[in-house]
Amino acid sequence: MDKRKVIIDCDPGIDDSLAIILALKSEEIDVKGITIVSGNVHGKKGAENALKILKELNRLDIPVYLGECEPMERKLITAEDTHGRDGLGESFLPRVEEVTYKEGAVNFILDELKSEDITIIALGPLTNIAKALEKDCEVTRKMKELVLMGGAFKSFGNCSQVAEFNFWVDPHGVEKVFKELKRKITMVGLDVTRQCVLTPNYIEMIRQFNEPLGELIVKITKFYVDFHWNQERTLGCVINDPLAIAYFINPELCSGKEYFVDIVTEGKAIGMTLVDEGDFYREKPNCLVLTEVNSKGFMEMFLTRIFPKHKEDIISILNNSKYGLN
Ligand code: RIB
Ligand code: CA
Repeated sequence: MDKRKVIIDCDPGIDDSLAIILALKSEEIDVKGITIVSGNVHGKKGAENALKILKELNRLDIPVYLGECEPMERKLITAEDTHGRDGLGESFLPRVEEVTYKEGAVNFILDELKSEDITIIALGPLTNIAKALEKDCEVTRKMKELVLMGGAFKSFGNCSQVAEFNFWVDPHGVEKVFKELKRKITMVGLDVTRQCVLTPNYIEMIRQFNEPLGELIVKITKFYVDFHWNQERTLGCVINDPLAIAYFINPELCSGKEYFVDIVTEGKAIGMTLVDEGDFYREKPNCLVLTEVNSKGFMEMFLTRIFPKHKEDIISILNNSKYGLN
């Protein structure tokens, strides 16, 4: 099978790390590189975290590039309350010494896009993509498509009543990308990711697999589970970013509709996604907004790709109603 080439642009970040794991355990995907943007944590910490996850996967062959560390206009606001001081759930994994991350994520993105068969899967604020547009708009239009985790259509926000974190950190970056990219954009927003909850049952199943990757996932998600309970009485943790990877692999997992999408860039509603369902702006649709998800199908893909030896157990438990899983 021809692998599909991607660049994962992210802000690791606990759920970004789960997304990297899923991508590297999926034979359909050829990860050409991981580019880092400030978001959950400062970009430099995110780049170190990406290396830590790649080391756990024995994939330090994949290059990590540090990108933009400040949003286009706003002052950076990070999310250590959600992802821990280290950005990996206060697991405090040892710093990777064997390799270092490189600088110049935007130039890496532009160089790779020239091959014309690259999809960018963006899991953090869109600052790197916006800067690539600023630097060389023509080359960015060689991108196959942009699949992004971010935004909220009808779902409530997660860093204000109306704003999703990635869009809220850098709304000017989002505005530029939606206005200028002119390539297919798919928004994997909170409307679908909120239905992808790694519940205590799933976490216990992962623990029972007694595998190094399972130990890592249990370790880095504990802090995230505690945050979700304290913040919104969710039992478990919403794993947003892996859904963008899963959707890229199998678009049948989600459905939605094309709309003209814009964003609020100032005031109390800053970061709010404006999905023009009523066609008030009379603008051409610029984004496929996902609104439905087969959350059980997602979880099955997520778990069976990462723990292939336990596929039978996973499917049996997923389909056993006594566990009440999605
Ligand atoms: O709102 C959730 C998104 O913001 C996820 O990508 C999470 O990692 C943070 O970047
Ligand atoms: Ca992220």
